[in-house]
Amino acid sequence: MRTRITELFGIEHPIIQGGMHYVGFASLAAAVSNAGGLGLITGLTQRTPELLGQEIAKARELTDKPFGVNLTFLPTFNAPPYAEYIQVIAENGIRIVETAGRSPEEYMPLFKQAGIKVIHKCTSVRHALKAERIGCDAVSVDGFECGGHPGEDDIPNMILLPLAAEALSVPFVASGGMADGRSLVAALALGADGVNMGTRFVATQDAPVHENVKRALVEATELDTRLVMRPLRNTERVLNNPGVERIRQIEREKGDAIKIDDIFEQVAGVYPKVMVEGEVDVGAWSCGLVVGLIRDVPTVKELVDRIMNEAEQIITDRLGRSLGATVQNALETA
Ligand SMILES: Cc1cc2nc3c(=O)[nH]c(=O)nc-3n(C[C@H](O)[C@H](O)[C@H](O)COP(=O)(O)O)c2cc1C
Repeated sequence: MRTRITELFGIEHPIIQGGMHYVGFASLAAAVSNAGGLGLITGLTQRTPELLGQEIAKARELTDKPFGVNLTFLPTFNAPPYAEYIQVIAENGIRIVETAGRSPEEYMPLFKQAGIKVIHKCTSVRHALKAERIGCDAVSVDGFECGGHPGEDDIPNMILLPLAAEALSVPFVASGGMADGRSLVAALALGADGVNMGTRFVATQDAPVHENVKRALVEATELDTRLVMRPLRNTERVLNNPGVERIRQIEREKGDAIKIDDIFEQVAGVYPKVMVEGEVDVGAWSCGLVVGLIRDVPTVKELVDRIMNEAEQIITDRLGRSLGATVQNALETA
């Protein structure tokens, strides 16, 4: 399948693995790239730029296919040394970066000088248009369904993607709620050039996270995510658990007066506890509504092959058939 995204990034399938804190290590990124998609190492999970350099080197040992790095701009007073991270990314030969969190405008000259293609992940058409305006090469449009930070507009992909398609000139992928061949075909039908997946890739054998995390995802349904930190305008969609219930209770008690310090215990330092130790109930960790569609833990390769086979079958068989015999014949002989 060729789309503007496969062309732009030189990949076989239009499937990207979004940056994921404490999940997006070299092993997962390489597995996704080896399967024909685009894997991304999550930059800030590496505590220093030097460690990121080492993680990139590890991925190079595991794949000779293109892979990239996610750089998330966090709402923090203690900003990581982003320019140094970008320098390490560039020096280690990375040519694809996914930015997220807020506009990468300030760092675009650094990316462009290094010949890096930037795909910016954002949750609204206005932010996508801004990304296009400041020179991003592509956009990842994250709908309300998504795991992680859906923004504050609450527009699901059924509406957001066609609006993005009408407004944007650069290629874009659909992010949030993507799980299988049906999602990929739907995303393409709505105007996207591919998909970005987070939660689905966590429940794979190649994801370097504790088995408890994968089990929690297989057991959860579409009713089991919650939005937290909305009063702080830093909304995050997470898997519900006792730690998350505690956050929601504090949010109800404090109302508009809430400060990040009030929920510090349930949000700070949670990822290593969850992903490494398997303590899945301690607090907020991102998970999309798509968890309702996750029922197994395949390898990344099995997952990607399955998505592509299913997409092809839907397009040539089910959709083709519904158009009648003439079109079906044309598709079969094409
Ligand atoms: C466990 C987890 C951690 C994530 N961490 C990050 C992150 O550090 N930076 C980022 O840009 N996005 C992060 N995301 C969001 C994903 O990259 C992706 O945009 C999102 O998961 C897409 O929605 P989906 O989960 O429905 O596929 C995370 C998602 C998950 C599930």
